[in-house]
Amino acid sequence: MSRITVSTLQKMKAAGEKISSITAYDASFAHVFDEAGMHVMLVGDSLGMVLQGHSDTLPVSIDDIAYHTQCVRRGAAKTLLIADMPFMSYATKEQTFSNAAKLMQAGANMVKVEGGDWLFETIQGLVERSVPVCGHLGLTPQSVNVFGGFKVQGRDSEKAQEMIEHAKQLELAGIQLLVLECIPTELAKAITEAVNIPVIGIGAGNVTDGQILVMHDALGISFGKTPKFSRNFLAETGDVHKAVALYMSEVSAGNFPSDEHSFN
Ligand code: KIV
Repeated sequence: MSRITVSTLQKMKAAGEKISSITAYDASFAHVFDEAGMHVMLVGDSLGMVLQGHSDTLPVSIDDIAYHTQCVRRGAAKTLLIADMPFMSYATKEQTFSNAAKLMQAGANMVKVEGGDWLFETIQGLVERSVPVCGHLGLTPQSVNVFGGFKVQGRDSEKAQEMIEHAKQLELAGIQLLVLECIPTELAKAITEAVNIPVIGIGAGNVTDGQILVMHDALGISFGKTPKFSRNFLAETGDVHKAVALYMSEVSAGNFPSDEHSFN
């Protein structure tokens, strides 16, 4: 299989083919995922929780993400690799550009930022400087203290409408991919239909153009509790390679996530 690019993902959206993605943090797992044909991998700031044992993602630094991006890139040549911009690493223009440069030079193909229309200029500036950007709306974990916990977002119609508008604004600013986390399926459907870029969901139902899971959740080895929106593919198969293949085939068939793994 050749290298996955943003145009591969655009074509998949147009053809109605589901995109499979997963977080990765090291070369060995990245190699397993890459060999299985995983379309997208994310070096998520979730590493603060699943690797470092913190209770949220806020302590993660840009150097942590850059280090793990280098590791994943060594194991995965074909996947489209996204690296998370951690908490406060894109608070000012200067920080944004120098931190994004670190991640791109570490081997990322795209960086991900969390938030709505306040990021318009940040995204425009990155895109103008040849840094592809992925947006992230819904339960954005860097805002856990504003939300008062890891809670489903967009349940009331005003907030839902606002999120649809933010998605359109982010697309206008230049994002080429959007992650939706922990929102009602109906809202995820409305957002996926409102934008032309591929949309990847986690806890957003099976209506988006693809899915992403934290690898530890998909393998049932999370530090702490496995979230409702995940499924233990390792327990179902008893083998890591088979678990990855099952996750991807269930996403591709539209069987994962089912209603029991979604918020309605
Ligand atoms: O950090 C992360 O792993 C993420 C995914 C949950 C999308 O942002």
